[in-house]
Amino acid sequence: MDELIKAWDGECVIVSHDRPSGAWIFIAIHSTKLGPAIGGTRMKHYSELKDALEDAQRLAAGMTYKWAAAGLRGGGGKAVIALDHPLDQQERASLLRRYGTLVRKHRGLFLTGPDLGTSSEDMDIIAQEAPSLVFGRTLEAGGGGNPAPFTARGIFTALETTAQRLFGKGGLSGKKILVQGAGSVGRELIHLLQGCGCEVLFSDIEEETVRLHRNEKGLSFVPPEAVYETACDIFAPCAVGGVLNEESIPRLRCRAVVGGANNQLAAPEDARRLQDRGVLYAPDFVANSGGAIALIGIETRGWSREEAMRRVVKAVRDNLEAIYRTADHEGISTDEAARRLAQRRIDEGAPENEDS
Ligand code: PHE
Repeated sequence: MDELIKAWDGECVIVSHDRPSGAWIFIAIHSTKLGPAIGGTRMKHYSELKDALEDAQRLAAGMTYKWAAAGLRGGGGKAVIALDHPLDQQERASLLRRYGTLVRKHRGLFLTGPDLGTSSEDMDIIAQEAPSLVFGRTLEAGGGGNPAPFTARGIFTALETTAQRLFGKGGLSGKKILVQGAGSVGRELIHLLQGCGCEVLFSDIEEETVRLHRNEKGLSFVPPEAVYETACDIFAPCAVGGVLNEESIPRLRCRAVVGGANNQLAAPEDARRLQDRGVLYAPDFVANSGGAIALIGIETRGWSREEAMRRVVKAVRDNLEAIYRTADHEGISTDEAARRLAQRRIDEGAPENEDS
């Protein structure tokens, strides 16, 4: 773990061992150049502790780019709560309260919101200990609620923008889209795609989710091990990170990858690998920025939900079009183009982009 911290380009990592539950907490602060670090809290089990630290570090860096690309004044950070064993509801709630205390003690260095494994209800609990440092509380508690519909709308916009570029006027209609992961975001995305005449294929590892989508919604199911070689127009990874790698990229049979998962590329070189295979990649931190943009706007700028939706669509479309153009002109990967866009805003100390 010392190697991971030494090699990281971020600012610091807060480490805490929660003795009562045995969980480890890592809060990775990647950059506070544009403002206090804001990022979700991920809670799950990791087979090795160092994977949890690495996840926090990589996700925190992703948040730096996400805020910068969105033109919002936020720094990059992320928290990972690595569970030692499954917790019952009460143990889980008290862990979240202790975690809230930890967040409060850092007095605004880090603000948080929901992420994989945490919900708006969990945010309500954390916020009891860390008031005004938590986004995405339930609507009843005065928060912006579940960000998934906004995240899904952003991904859907990214799919439309990409389809227009690849297939012209007809856009997404009649296209075959493979959604990997029908969790909170994937499920919403599937719904939007069905509404616009796409042929939707899906994959998931949870039996219950598979049953629901296959039987009740009549969608074609692709077994997890067959996802990469399944022919489709656009592949939409909406589950875990690292799915685009040396091993999976040569197997892909799609024209583009546009999804909601964070850190889809296992390594920076994978952007080139996709480009060499002629697969257009929508950089994840742009495609999935909708939830983050909407929550910040609703909770700190007084946007209505409609206003937030409108801004998400515009931010994702404008950014992605600019990124595809730059990548084309300069012969660089779309990931590189997106990072340059974000980095430029960081270097300029980006003033808030009022139209994003
Ligand atoms: N976890 C989400 C993301 O990765 C959303 C989020 C919203 C996180 C607001 C923090 C604050 O974008």
